[in-house]
Amino acid sequence: MAIRLGDTAPNFTAETTDGTIDFHEWKKDSWAVLFSHPKDFTPVCTTELGTVAKLKPEFDKRGVKVMGLSVDPVDSHHEWEKDIEETQGEAVNFPMIADPDRKVADLYDMIHPNANDTLTVRSVFVIGPDDKVKLTLTYPASTGRNFDELLRVIDSLQLTAKHSVATPADWNQGEDVIIAPAISNDDAKEKFPAGWKELKPYLRVTPQPQD
Ligand code: BEZ
Repeated sequence: MAIRLGDTAPNFTAETTDGTIDFHEWKKDSWAVLFSHPKDFTPVCTTELGTVAKLKPEFDKRGVKVMGLSVDPVDSHHEWEKDIEETQGEAVNFPMIADPDRKVADLYDMIHPNANDTLTVRSVFVIGPDDKVKLTLTYPASTGRNFDELLRVIDSLQLTAKHSVATPADWNQGEDVIIAPAISNDDAKEKFPAGWKELKPYLRVTPQPQD
């Protein structure tokens, strides 16, 4: 069954490159990204894992733990990691699940049989401190993901979890945001002392609230 926004991220215990991990125990009450890639020793996946390794300090800064998954065994992951470090200039610095029996892949609906009946698609799940799924993404095997976009979405998720705002198209950290339509103007006066620009009654733009 597909996992939808707001669902509790299913728990599992899996072999990873950092040993056996119980997902909820590992995650505790932080944010997490769980992402799958189709197969070890494949070119696009190699670049993706190098990119995520380089961005690890950015995930850390946001309090986000990262875990990868592919359907190959853990020995294969360890061998492949040498290639990733050699070709991408960064060692993999987060756990990768070995899922040869597809236990986690099936639990998270990461195999789309009409695309490929054995390999995982490029799934991403962003999971909040409450263990609820906040974002899902699915890319095909042939297209590497944009992990700066993932960080941008995490910035939006973390901001909108704290303040009664939404973020507009192409928003980036520090730019103006939208006051949530459910907030009345009276309440907005208290919540947004910097004021707002009302383009339409339903479109009120205000500077990004600071923490
Ligand atoms: C890749 O990572 O390059 C890849 C993996 C599976 C199918 C196609 C491409």
